[in-house]
Amino acid sequence: MSALYFLLLATASASPVPDIQDEVQLLRERQENNNVSSLLPYSLPSDGPDVVRATDITTKQLTFTYGPPVGVGPYYPAGVLGTTYATTDGAIDNSELAAQVVIMRGDDSKARLDSAKYNGLKTLDDYTKLYDDEWQPSSQPTGQYDGILTNYTQDLLFSMERLSFNPYAVRRLNPSSDSMPFDVDDAIVTKITGQTLESLFTSGRLFYVDHTVQGRLPKRPPPQYAPACDALFYICPTSGDFLPLAIRSGVADLVYTPEDTPDDWLLAKIMFNVNDFFMAQFDHFSRNHFVAEIVYEAAVRTLSDDHPVLAVLKRLLYGAFGIRPLALVILIRPDGDIDQYFGNSGTAAAQFANETYFNGSAGALRSNYFLTNLEKRGLINSPVGPALKSFPFYEDGMPIYNAIKDFTTTFISSYYSSDAAITADKELQAWVKEANGPAGVIDFPPTNTRSDLACLLAEIARLVSFSHHAVNLNQLITVAATLPFHPTALYKPIPDAKNVTDVASYLPPLDKALGFIGVAANFARPLLANTNRSLINMFDDPIMLNRMNSATRAANEKFKSAMTARSEVVRNRKFDADGLSQGMPFVWQALDPGVAAWSLTI
Ligand SMILES: *[C@@H]1O[C@H](CO)[C@@H](O)[C@H](O)[C@H]1NC(C)=O
Ligand SMILES: *[C@@H]1O[C@H](CO)[C@@H](O)[C@H](O)[C@H]1NC(C)=O
Ligand SMILES: *[C@@H]1O[C@H](CO)[C@@H](O)[C@H](O)[C@H]1NC(C)=O
Ligand SMILES: *[C@@H]1O[C@H](CO)[C@@H](O)[C@H](O)[C@H]1NC(C)=O
Ligand SMILES: *[C@@H]1O[C@H](CO)[C@@H](O)[C@H](O)[C@H]1NC(C)=O
Ligand SMILES: [Fe+2]
Repeated sequence: MSALYFLLLATASASPVPDIQDEVQLLRERQENNNVSSLLPYSLPSDGPDVVRATDITTKQLTFTYGPPVGVGPYYPAGVLGTTYATTDGAIDNSELAAQVVIMRGDDSKARLDSAKYNGLKTLDDYTKLYDDEWQPSSQPTGQYDGILTNYTQDLLFSMERLSFNPYAVRRLNPSSDSMPFDVDDAIVTKITGQTLESLFTSGRLFYVDHTVQGRLPKRPPPQYAPACDALFYICPTSGDFLPLAIRSGVADLVYTPEDTPDDWLLAKIMFNVNDFFMAQFDHFSRNHFVAEIVYEAAVRTLSDDHPVLAVLKRLLYGAFGIRPLALVILIRPDGDIDQYFGNSGTAAAQFANETYFNGSAGALRSNYFLTNLEKRGLINSPVGPALKSFPFYEDGMPIYNAIKDFTTTFISSYYSSDAAITADKELQAWVKEANGPAGVIDFPPTNTRSDLACLLAEIARLVSFSHHAVNLNQLITVAATLPFHPTALYKPIPDAKNVTDVASYLPPLDKALGFIGVAANFARPLLANTNRSLINMFDDPIMLNRMNSATRAANEKFKSAMTARSEVVRNRKFDADGLSQGMPFVWQALDPGVAAWSLTI
């Protein structure tokens, strides 16, 4: 670093470039003033030399450097400018969190004052009373989704959760490349499905979720316990429904099925949910946060602040660098929220996120593109087996994805008149090189055509918005962490025999239950609903748009109307005559663009 610095100073003294200290100062001011000081239109780099622009970038490379990760994952911004970015983002996230904590505290006091009505949480039904006229308005604008507190014993609710609020775990088994993960008694399988396990498998009707890796992660001491489940799901040959077939808890080789006693089967589903929630949350650290952060870091270091692509990335990564430090302090640290409430420890969560990042399962960029990822897991366009009858995450994600892609396509075409202009953009190509080189982005896509670039930007926009919101933010208190069906730990040892009779005794005691609802409430962002922070306004940054061209401004208007119309659809969603919504016994409203945030925010 100091050698590079010296090199630049030596060059600087020999050519008419501004003094580096002035440059740093200017960049910091621009960052702090959100670029208001520069009102010139964004532009692509010129073909010829542009000393001022080049110096700008060189200065950024010297002052926005790759520091060690905060916690785990890819590099974290360091250097004078890198630290400024981190500090600015920290202030954004802290203030949005602080506003929510005020609401949460009010709700928490009321919930504790009302403790008598929970009856000491002796029965499953007592747990639903935790939400009865409580945690409002934290959980506003939607409250707990209709059906999630009343229909949770239904198998269809359990299975459809895999296709809505944690859509990243399940995959179809492919008979030509997979083997059977575990055996289930064929008499039982036939009774449940009308077919043998083998025939379900060969006909492409079997699906699998594997959380067994959690078995080797560091655990919390008693009374918190975590299982290490895996589970089979199937598309029913008669109804076409996507349903659960069997769950293993990872203890004593027990295989649970819907043919067990209602208590045993319900407990099995609850145990699975403990693992699934852990996976969803700490996989999302890498899938959404880490991937988007490191792509942006490489962009900051290679694209001029006058480059339109950096402007869009900057908008999308609003507040992004503030989150890893917060996660470390609030969640991961010893005795933090994870240690307090989970069966696996905070260290386990960090280790898991780090692994899913570096082994590419969540950290790879291109092979996890929206449709590529769903296809890879046999959830759409599967070469084997029937299509899913209903796939809420896809159904709600697709219209948002299409609208984003419309925007980025128009935006990119408006700045690049041909594919040749993409390869001729030296800053853009430097970004690609940087991403594949020093930044170490995993699986960065080739960026040679306008379509490549429009897709790449659309994917970053997806990662920070609906793909994130499906699993995080409002989702925790509205659905994903709701009791009694979704605890974060069991409070009795994982059974080593069937025939349990008191499922409620495995669930969190009152102080833990209320404590974690409070944590979940802190992740909610009701204050962003129907404001300029909601997904409808993803690109609607007046300062940025003023510096863009008219085609981009028009594309933003088009995006806003498409998303406003979509918001109406999701907002007005209700049960049909069969008590279902999107084929599920609960009404999922996560991906309402009027409510979900357009950025990561936490
Ligand atoms: C995260 O994984 C990387 C790559 O395997 C490894 O080098 C690093 O030490 C890990 N970080 C932590 C804190 O475990
Ligand atoms: C990557 O690591 C995660 C967490 O340990 C694990 O669940 C997943 O199976 C791994 N994937 C691959 C492809 O190794
Ligand atoms: C299950 O519990 C019931 C009643 O508590 C008992 O009669 C039965 O024998 C038990 N079954 C097994 C397999 O332990
Ligand atoms: C949202 O609007 C408020 C004023 O109503 C403004 O202060 C704030 O900067 C805007 N936020 C963003 C991210 O554009
Ligand atoms: C789910 O619960 C709601 C009440 O919250 C009810 O109206 C609906 O019929 C239930 N759906 C099914 C399939 O039981
Ligand atoms: Fe997040």
